[in-house]
Amino acid sequence: MLLSLQDVRKTFGGLAAVDGASLSVGSGEVHGLIGPNGAGKTTLLNMISGLIPPTAGTIVLDGERIDGMPSHVVASRGITRTYQNIRLFPALTAADNVLVGAHLRRDAPLWRRMLFLPSAAVEERAAQDASLALLARVGMSGQAGERASNLSYGDQRRVEIARALASEPRVMLLDEPTAGMNPAEVVAIAELIRSVARTGHSVLLVEHNVKLVMDVCDRITVLDFGKVIADGTPTEVARDPAVIAAYLGGEAAA
Ligand SMILES: Nc1ncnc2c1ncn2[C@@H]1O[C@H](COP(=O)(O)OP(=O)(O)OP(=O)(O)O)[C@@H](O)[C@H]1O
Ligand SMILES: [Mg+2]
Repeated sequence: MLLSLQDVRKTFGGLAAVDGASLSVGSGEVHGLIGPNGAGKTTLLNMISGLIPPTAGTIVLDGERIDGMPSHVVASRGITRTYQNIRLFPALTAADNVLVGAHLRRDAPLWRRMLFLPSAAVEERAAQDASLALLARVGMSGQAGERASNLSYGDQRRVEIARALASEPRVMLLDEPTAGMNPAEVVAIAELIRSVARTGHSVLLVEHNVKLVMDVCDRITVLDFGKVIADGTPTEVARDPAVIAAYLGGEAAA
């Protein structure tokens, strides 16, 4: 497995937000992470991406333990993410926000850019071209020069996905990427997620849109109160009585 979590825990005060969760994501896999509000999904992504250290447990990427590493190191190892609460630089253009992501790339050493070596200018130009290509890939080529603060929430989320892709990650973590999007935009994001997986990236997708999760995921892990209550294919998970009781019951009724 490319990414493996074993018995990962996070406690805040006395509360176990994530209570011994294990899951594995394979190469090129789209893996869903679903569960009710407060189940611990975002906390789990925060630990994988190095935003917060786990209280206990191990996180292994391609044979290397990454738990407790700071987020910029985790990013350089090949894990990038988007945020439930969008985190773009509001005054920068969409293209420049994506360029920030390109600078996290493993093969572009910062020291060379800082020394302004000739190859650095060439790399910078290439990074700019790549940023525009990524914006086109997420359907945003028309808004490359727009300030992030002027974009709709849906468009800001697409810029975040382009930024996450810019570092050519091995694993992309998406925290509710379709929040604030209309149905047509959701369909476009579903296609984008599949295309990302086809080009060899793995995706760990946190999402409340159950139809999207069922459509695009190869496997799904279900969290409830910080614990994994089910793990399997979309069909297996959708039929699981514990999942229906904890999560899908409400969806089915709605
Ligand atoms: N920094 C923190 N300090 C204290 N408690 C926290 C912190 N972050 C999260 N929690 C708590 O941990 C639990 C899990 O929260 P988390 O945000 O991971 O849930 P979630 O599954 O992402 O929910 P949602 O679907 O609403 O986004 C919640 O009870 C939350 O209040
Ligand atoms: Mg969350």
